[in-house]
Amino acid sequence: MRPAPACGSGFRGDSGRGNVGIMLQLPPLYQDLTFLSPLSDERAAALARFIADAQPATVLDIGCGWGELLMQTMARTPQAMGLGVDLEPERLVEARRRAATRGLEGRVSFEARDARHLEGTFDAVICIGASQVWGLPVEAAQPLDYAAALAALRGLMRPGGRLVYGEAMWSSAPTPAATSVLSGRDDEYLQVEGMVCVAQAHGFTVTAAQVASLEEWDDFEAGFVGRLERWLQTHPADHPEAVAVREQLQDQREGYLKGYRGVLGMAYLTLVAV
Ligand SMILES: C[S@@+](CC[C@H](N)C(=O)[O-])C[C@H]1O[C@@H](n2cnc3c(N)ncnc32)[C@H](O)[C@@H]1O
Repeated sequence: MRPAPACGSGFRGDSGRGNVGIMLQLPPLYQDLTFLSPLSDERAAALARFIADAQPATVLDIGCGWGELLMQTMARTPQAMGLGVDLEPERLVEARRRAATRGLEGRVSFEARDARHLEGTFDAVICIGASQVWGLPVEAAQPLDYAAALAALRGLMRPGGRLVYGEAMWSSAPTPAATSVLSGRDDEYLQVEGMVCVAQAHGFTVTAAQVASLEEWDDFEAGFVGRLERWLQTHPADHPEAVAVREQLQDQREGYLKGYRGVLGMAYLTLVAV
């Protein structure tokens, strides 16, 4: 079984991805990616609008990364207080830096917290690529537990509250080429129709179910390997780690282009808690 592929960092946790066998100081992903997900600026704006239209007083972002979508949402909801939680200190430092730059530091906080232990009720929640919080670690190579995630998310929301739920899915029937660079199993993900059913079964009305385009995926994958390309450009070809970095770059590109491109998808559900 291969480690989780490029998208795996986002969708099944960052474990095993992007630094296979290499202990290098690579630049942070936020230098190349706006979001740690295949998400265009246009779609992000629409998701932020979905939440802002309900004028929430409290917005929670679970697995917020560097907080970009939460801050775009906060910019549209001047009355709201925001909380982003993640386990990656470097991402949280960047999130706080961005909040200060945008004058949002009084309304949004970013905390290093394990989202499994969150309590309380929020008017709106964002959870993109973080369902693994409530399931087994990606290394266990088990089907992604959408049900556990949606049940936990529903428990954090009041009736009428809005949820932006983004998660990996099969956008076409899984192929051996795709699964061989993922967990090796066809049942790792659902298709979007299955995700809609799970959301409905766990106390949500589905207002829309969108699927990331191939262009969003291509941009995401290009951003994901950007730091490896830059490392190779700025280090001598005979650097002791150069062979490993080149291999990682090639594995990442081939895993995507010959493996899961067009098969692994990303769905964005906009949900209202019943
Ligand atoms: C795929 S990234 C998505 C980041 C962000 N939502 C975005 O779309 O740009 C998933 C994030 O979940 C975070 N995460 C994983 N397990 C977590 C946990 N138990 N509690 C809080 N955050 C967690 C990871 O550190 C990572 O930043």
